[in-house]
Amino acid sequence: MSEGILLTKVARGTLLPVDERVARLQAARPQILAALEGETDEVARQATLACLLWETLAQANWCGFYRRVGERLLAVGPYQGGMGCLRIPFERGVCGACARTATTQLVPDVHAFPGHIACDGATRSELVIPVNVGGTVTAVLDLDSPHLDGFSLAEARLLEHLLVHVFDPGSVR
Ligand code: SME
Repeated sequence: MSEGILLTKVARGTLLPVDERVARLQAARPQILAALEGETDEVARQATLACLLWETLAQANWCGFYRRVGERLLAVGPYQGGMGCLRIPFERGVCGACARTATTQLVPDVHAFPGHIACDGATRSELVIPVNVGGTVTAVLDLDSPHLDGFSLAEARLLEHLLVHVFDPGSVR
């Protein structure tokens, strides 16, 4: 039985220095993998990850998944934060770009990203990472922050590895 994550509590919205954010993610990783050990249900994994990453990433105002529900369509999945868009076509927004290209989208300033979907006007930066299972994008992890430059490349790389371990472990064995 997991009781969430053992990290120092940080007020929601705080943008810690990059090295502290990286250290929090590194400390969270084994705890997240232990919490998900043996869980095979997709929604249970997405919901638990959304919860534990929300606790880890204090700079986020939205943290969760968009699932692929059609050839070129995403629908909202488990998340933490304010109301999000329900559906996002592959042609739209940062999430759509991530799903379309199967590559991580690190957007330090959403106003400079053509076609960004402003679900929450407070959002200033985003990090969207594909969940790739056996070569197919099945979902994306969407992280939004009210801070400019709220996410770093170092966090993106750690989260990419975490998602591979959780959703496509066969590819790293
Ligand atoms: N990250 C989205 C929009 C925000 S969500 O609905 C929470 C985008 O792809 O632009």
